[in-house]
Amino acid sequence: MRGVDLPTETGATLQLDVGRLALSMGPAAGFDAARLRVVGAKLARTLVRMAASTIAIDDVRSWSADAAVRRSMGQALAEGMLLGSWRFDSLDGSASRREPKLATLRVFLGDRSAREGFSAGLAIGEGVNAARTVAATPPNVANPPWIASEARKLGRQLGMRVRVIDHRKAAKLGMGGLVAVGQGSSASPCLVMIEWSPRRVPSRSRDQHVVLVGKTITYDTGGYSLKVNNGMKGMKYDKSGGAAVLGAMRAIASLKLPIRVTAVLAVAENMVSERSYRPDDIITLYNGVSVEVTNTDAEGRLVLADALSYACATLKPTAIIDIATLTGGVGVALGNFCAGYFCEDRALSALVENSAASTGELVWRLPLWDAHREFMRSQHADIINSNPLRSAHPIQGAAFLSYFVEPKLPWAHLDIASMAVSESGNDLTGTGPTGWGVRLLVDLVQKV
Ligand code: BES
Ligand code: ZN
Ligand code: ZN
Repeated sequence: MRGVDLPTETGATLQLDVGRLALSMGPAAGFDAARLRVVGAKLARTLVRMAASTIAIDDVRSWSADAAVRRSMGQALAEGMLLGSWRFDSLDGSASRREPKLATLRVFLGDRSAREGFSAGLAIGEGVNAARTVAATPPNVANPPWIASEARKLGRQLGMRVRVIDHRKAAKLGMGGLVAVGQGSSASPCLVMIEWSPRRVPSRSRDQHVVLVGKTITYDTGGYSLKVNNGMKGMKYDKSGGAAVLGAMRAIASLKLPIRVTAVLAVAENMVSERSYRPDDIITLYNGVSVEVTNTDAEGRLVLADALSYACATLKPTAIIDIATLTGGVGVALGNFCAGYFCEDRALSALVENSAASTGELVWRLPLWDAHREFMRSQHADIINSNPLRSAHPIQGAAFLSYFVEPKLPWAHLDIASMAVSESGNDLTGTGPTGWGVRLLVDLVQKV
């Protein structure tokens, strides 16, 4: 093209003439799916601004000679386009004057593999955006019963069985953690289970049953160990683990993945009232382990503990993965470059790292040793929920949870406290809730 300077920055566009847009894919070296995901996000933002209704992307075959690579590139492009165009506007009021959203965008891709990938990418991108919408929904709307009803809606839409254990049943079953954390709120806690059970399962994964557990604290005031100095603002995002699990289940069911997956959401609101649990309370959890509450702000591990031990006892999982905004400390250690994760099972750990590499949702493994488990011992009960010697918070969280998972079961714990929300904004999701973990979980389930 003579006479015009084509854009070179990744994802930048230039209008060539009416209906023709040049889109920069960035430098030829290193052109891959991850790049295309970012290009997709930027392109989508441009198309929204232009109010475009149809696009055709030329030259898709030149992406790669390998059809499988074109497929994953098509997937990444769709993911990026959806992530780039998400916004939360359902609660915009009469004072808002935002441009209306794009109604539909028709996309033409001249390659079958890329198109197949593109449809899969749409399902996954919708899962991520659904997770972001749940995370963004404010705590006066998104309380525990709201989460249960969203799960039921999802189940009806996509053919998944949903079971809800309400607080009364939870108390009867001995879920002392879920009950204690939720008892200070007028909106009762619950455990929500969503089951994806495909008709046909290939023999390779016939015996597999993956369980995904999400911390779903709809609001975390800290309880009587109250969050201070503005530390409470943003704690509506403390349900991001559960939101990621909901989003992953949406994608898994709409892709009809041929493997059995069950989601377990531990849902509660951590509030202050005359009924709230206190520091010094001693409670007994579902598997009989007693816990001395040293800090009511370490509530996520208490609800997760009941969810994990209930899942182990009743669902016969072959692998269990929990995802939680568990500790601010994980961000102190790792920043918002990756999530911290814990996994002492080699095969599962390799799967997690593999999925992290292929989705770009990066993780870093932290240690979980017997010494860490000992660090959680209590003088008056079996264990404490937080050690007053404030150190190694992310590891403390994992060490605590390990008391509630069957010893030989492959288990991974993802601490996403520093990844769930982006303050500085990133190329893919901008600022706000990221839906972090949906893409990783969906990829991982496919590799089990
Ligand atoms: N929900 C918080 C963790 C968190 C903090 C998430 C900041 C996102 C941003 C969690 O329940 C919590 O309060 N954790 C405590 C643990 C401590 C009491 C052992 C923390 O991080 O200080
Ligand atoms: Zn807390
Ligand atoms: Zn919390």
